[in-house]
Amino acid sequence: MSQNSLDMLRRRIEDLDVALLKLLNERAAVSVQIGKLKAQDGLSVYDRLREEAVYGYLLEHNQGPLKTSEINRIFSNIISVSRRLQSTGDHEARGRSADDTATRAVSGNTSVYGILGNPVTQSMSPVMHNAAFRLLGIDAIYLPFEVHDVRGAIVGMRALQIRGASVTHPFKTSIPGLIDEIDATAREVGAVNTLVLEGNSIRGSNTDWAGAVRCIQGLLPIKDNRFVVVGAGGAARAVVFGITREGGKITLVNRTRDKGLPLAEAFGLPFVPLAEIEKVSGECLINTTPVGMYPNIGEMPVPKGVLSRYKAVVDVIYNPLKTRLLKEAEAAGCLVTNGVDMFVYQGAEQFRLWTGKEPPVELMRDVVVDALAQGQSD
Ligand code: ATR
Repeated sequence: MSQNSLDMLRRRIEDLDVALLKLLNERAAVSVQIGKLKAQDGLSVYDRLREEAVYGYLLEHNQGPLKTSEINRIFSNIISVSRRLQSTGDHEARGRSADDTATRAVSGNTSVYGILGNPVTQSMSPVMHNAAFRLLGIDAIYLPFEVHDVRGAIVGMRALQIRGASVTHPFKTSIPGLIDEIDATAREVGAVNTLVLEGNSIRGSNTDWAGAVRCIQGLLPIKDNRFVVVGAGGAARAVVFGITREGGKITLVNRTRDKGLPLAEAFGLPFVPLAEIEKVSGECLINTTPVGMYPNIGEMPVPKGVLSRYKAVVDVIYNPLKTRLLKEAEAAGCLVTNGVDMFVYQGAEQFRLWTGKEPPVELMRDVVVDALAQGQSD
């Protein structure tokens, strides 16, 4: 094929892509309108019969070389984006986005959920859970609660019949002493990140470890692989518990022996000080410290020279989406993943505990990534 005809065909593709993009944006704008009408009428974003009808008319009209499976693949992405747009509104409206969308539908019957922490202003949980409630048509709202008195917050949760809550920094390890019941797993992890109100009783659970397991399994199997976990705080506890439960082998590495050794001993793990990390290796390195988190994005928890010893590197940080650790690890040829999946999966398991329904994980991830990307570009 001559260079000229290749160039010509590529120009034709470019024109078609631009035309498609214009049509997709028009479609997105209509989806936003539909989302507003559904919110006004209190209708669920997800409508199985309607989605089936869309696939139906597409196949009816298909005259080109695309196979049914290819059409389904392309349109399942388009429909997923539509659901997100219907749940969270358009880009210009983002300032008023998910929370307002949910607020519009609040009535006397609306169940209240929230996050207990301090600070909570940067939390992605409200955006994520409100979008999920909207998608499934659940009459509920999720609010940020900046807690100044954790004991009072628990009393208030019972008094106000707040149906469930996420617990975040700095209360994950202090809240167990204040609630009525702690499930076996949260007890073993040594931290509570989820509260469920039943009648007048509050039960504490932990979903962080399950988030960590699903996130790691997206990169490599856990069973019989060797993990080097850096850090000894709450995030490290959940990661260590999850890997141990799934049959992985761990070496715990921490800056201070004082904090590292008790965690290592509690799980029967070898402990190595961070200053000696060159002495250890494994299939996967996991950072659970805040080193490299915004605004200190130039920092790294381990020296870059050790990264090539690992097949995979996980960073529990998700702001920035790609930390310096992950950039250097990629350059060293490692598979990498950030903390978004861990965060989304722990939230998905909370949603399951509160509602008993299958969480819309795909949408939850979409809105979180979108909100983070928006925050990082501002
Ligand atoms: P979380 O509960 O959110 O995991 P945390 O309890 O504050 O947070 O724990 C943070 C972990 O990151 C700790 O293990 C801490 O190490 P120390 O035990 O030595 O304090 C680790 N960490 C924090 N800043 C660090 C730094 N600059 N270099 C190395 N480790 C650091």
